[in-house]
Amino acid sequence: MNDLALAWLTRMMMQENAAQALWCSDENALTSLPAAEQWPHKPLLMTNRWDIAQQAERLGFNSRFSDFDFSELSDASLSHVFYRISKEKPVTHHIINQAHRLLMPGGKLFLCGQKSEGIKTYIDKAGKLFGCTASAQKNGTVYSAILDNMLPQNDQRLDDSDYPQLRPINSPQGITIHSKPGLFGWNKIDQGSEFLIQALPALLDQLPQPPKRLLDLGCGYGYLTLMTANLPLEQRVLTDNNAAALHTARRNCELNQITAEIIAADAGDQIQQTFDLILCNPPFHQGFSVDSDLTDKFILSAKRLLAKHGIALFVVNQFIPLERKAREHFRQVNMLAHNSSFKLVTLTH
Ligand SMILES: C[S@@+](CC[C@H](N)C(=O)[O-])C[C@H]1O[C@@H](n2cnc3c(N)ncnc32)[C@H](O)[C@@H]1O
Repeated sequence: MNDLALAWLTRMMMQENAAQALWCSDENALTSLPAAEQWPHKPLLMTNRWDIAQQAERLGFNSRFSDFDFSELSDASLSHVFYRISKEKPVTHHIINQAHRLLMPGGKLFLCGQKSEGIKTYIDKAGKLFGCTASAQKNGTVYSAILDNMLPQNDQRLDDSDYPQLRPINSPQGITIHSKPGLFGWNKIDQGSEFLIQALPALLDQLPQPPKRLLDLGCGYGYLTLMTANLPLEQRVLTDNNAAALHTARRNCELNQITAEIIAADAGDQIQQTFDLILCNPPFHQGFSVDSDLTDKFILSAKRLLAKHGIALFVVNQFIPLERKAREHFRQVNMLAHNSSFKLVTLTH
């Protein structure tokens, strides 16, 4: 991703070269960072994305993978925080609030993003919280600002919708679903996933034998697995790249007394075994942009993780050319059903 906002942030991090610095990053990250040896004081990287944490460690960063849980860091302990704003408002507000807590008096928050992402409003709000007049610098469509922390903790905290808190959402009868901001479509059930679950019993009826091992690839808060509670499965594995998703999926399995393994991975890359049923509603957005390579990544991992006689069931938006892409890797690719928005596609070796 060629992102001018990130390019500015990287330049600032190099230029400031500060020892007590924190970089907060979600999926919009790490384009072309200089080699570790050119960078004497690398900031601590806090990210909610598993792939970013892995990539950062390879580049020589000290990284933390969490749902932006800053509790290990003390108040007023940092001189610099660097942050390119996130897609979701509660995440962005949470991180700006935390930056204010973590920065020492006179410490600096480096904030940037695209105009269309609402960066100007975030800069204004952060300015009020920090007690400084921040003037946004414009570079094309990117705005950036350096905010000095002039005010101690105050009641101007930005509304982060109680970011860390899990809360119940409307769930089908008999199951309990909790969710939280920071997760894809966190406060609703995805219509594509619902479509997949409606079609699943008929598909399973046609199989020569019931599947025993389930993989929920890109599990989010675990909806697909939760809806298999009544199947006689022997093993359920849920995996996602997002720390908020993993944390919530674990809690939902506990709440519904489902025994499951929850694994942090980039499209399942940490998983070695194979499965006879893979359920997947793959992402097609990386940060603010549509990323068609993501579909390929999920198809390839389904190929690797699907047992010889297993079946993978994907749901995607109608406009995703899943069948064309999957035919290069699977012997059989069938459209099982479709509606006006989604299609269900089965993949077998
Ligand atoms: C469309 S959502 C589906 C969520 C869930 N399965 C459901 O049905 O509600 C796609 C999921 O893929 C996850 N995801 C995105 N990139 C990923 C990656 N590289 N590896 C694993 N999961 C990823 C997202 O965090 C999100 O939870």
